[in-house]
Amino acid sequence: MLGKFIVIEGLEGAGKSSVISAIVDFLRAKGLEVMTTREPGGTPMAEAIRDCVKHTWDETVTEQTELLLMYASRSQLVTNKILPALSNGTWVVGDRHDLSTVAYQGGGRGVALSSLSQLKQITLGEFSPDFTVYLDVSPATGLARARGRGELDRIELAGAAFFERVRNMYVSQIKGMPNACTIDAEQTMEKVHADALSALDDWLSE
Ligand code: TMP
Repeated sequence: MLGKFIVIEGLEGAGKSSVISAIVDFLRAKGLEVMTTREPGGTPMAEAIRDCVKHTWDETVTEQTELLLMYASRSQLVTNKILPALSNGTWVVGDRHDLSTVAYQGGGRGVALSSLSQLKQITLGEFSPDFTVYLDVSPATGLARARGRGELDRIELAGAAFFERVRNMYVSQIKGMPNACTIDAEQTMEKVHADALSALDDWLSE
């Protein structure tokens, strides 16, 4: 049997990492083989791209460069890690995937959604997650949590208006997506985990 690809999305500080651990434990308890990924990153080359994306450069990083780096990383990850795992029957839990590009580069940076779909088609074809968990948090809460973890990277320094646009794009996209749920990530961690696992369980029992 093929594995399934479950993706966790949200702003920085939404609590993706702890929800991913909870989901991995939940799936393993069902006897499933589970692997995690993160984007950008997840293969040696894609991790080098991640460093490049997060670095604060002493030159303008164009929207096009940022966008192409996201797809370059995703192409490496999907081809070298995700597809082989799924065909082996391993379930993959991803920290971000294509919806992040729609939210950050489309919503945040203002790249036309038609350009994103063209790149998506070239890079991924019809490949897409089986289930998406969107952790909804306000930019104020998310960035305060991210700041508490240490210095902000190049994207985290983009400013409050940028993150408002990212969140608005997440919210509008998720509404039209089948096999996706929104979790209020301003709640306690216990409640966020419980809501995410219950949504996942509902989808699994469909
Ligand atoms: P994080 O996953 O550790 O939060 O860091 C990834 C950063 O990269 C985060 O600021 C979101 C950003 N990003 C994009 O802008 N577009 C993308 O497609 C992806 C996957 C991430």
